[in-house]
Amino acid sequence: MSDDPDRTAHPSERSADPFDLRARGIRDERVIAAMTRVPREAFVLPDARAAAYADSPLTIGFGQTISQPYIVAWMTEALGVEPGARVLEVGTGSGYQTAVLAEIGAEVWSLEIVPELADRAARTLAALGYDRVHLRTASGYAGWPEAAPFDRIILTAAPSDVPPALIDELADGGRLVAPVGTVWDQHIVIVDKRGNEITRHTSIGVQFVLMKK
Ligand SMILES: C[S@@+](CC[C@H](N)C(=O)[O-])C[C@H]1O[C@@H](n2cnc3c(N)ncnc32)[C@H](O)[C@@H]1O
Repeated sequence: MSDDPDRTAHPSERSADPFDLRARGIRDERVIAAMTRVPREAFVLPDARAAAYADSPLTIGFGQTISQPYIVAWMTEALGVEPGARVLEVGTGSGYQTAVLAEIGAEVWSLEIVPELADRAARTLAALGYDRVHLRTASGYAGWPEAAPFDRIILTAAPSDVPPALIDELADGGRLVAPVGTVWDQHIVIVDKRGNEITRHTSIGVQFVLMKK
């Protein structure tokens, strides 16, 4: 845990960048503002609250984690979310990433395979007043066809390859950002759809929990 008191202070008392994201190269001020406003301590387990503003993943139970803040910022910036965007998230987990997307002004559809985590995230998000989020307990491989197409899709658990159904659910001009690979070898993959053209590039190395089959 950092000994910087700013990281444990209430959001209203914290600086405008409690995770030092600017110093680490994050440039999208909407992402920094959203991560300043979302109270990460509300999304971690009670005995981890003192560590909520450290830049590390934390357990949320059921063998799962809330992701490292820097990686949340990096992926959200890479996603390029505009206010009003329709965003699909696979892997609700604690609901923290969902809240960051909602703070930017997106409407979010989020899928979580572990029912207990989905229920807890629903309670947390409702208590904080995030009402433009739609949560479903289901596996993410098929996406959310009734709500498609989506302007943006983000995965926060790693499949061995990008599920084809998710590319089908991307809108024209849409972008998908996902960790892809194995436990020991994972990279962020960014997929862009322009008409019939799908482009894909591989970026930074990461270490996410695997997407369950
Ligand atoms: C790293 S955690 C997500 C962190 C989350 N975005 C947050 O902000 O707390 C990955 C999540 O993906 C979920 N998951 C794993 N496989 C899945 C699948 N096939 N479909 C949907 N969710 C899945 C896990 O249960 C876990 O909650």
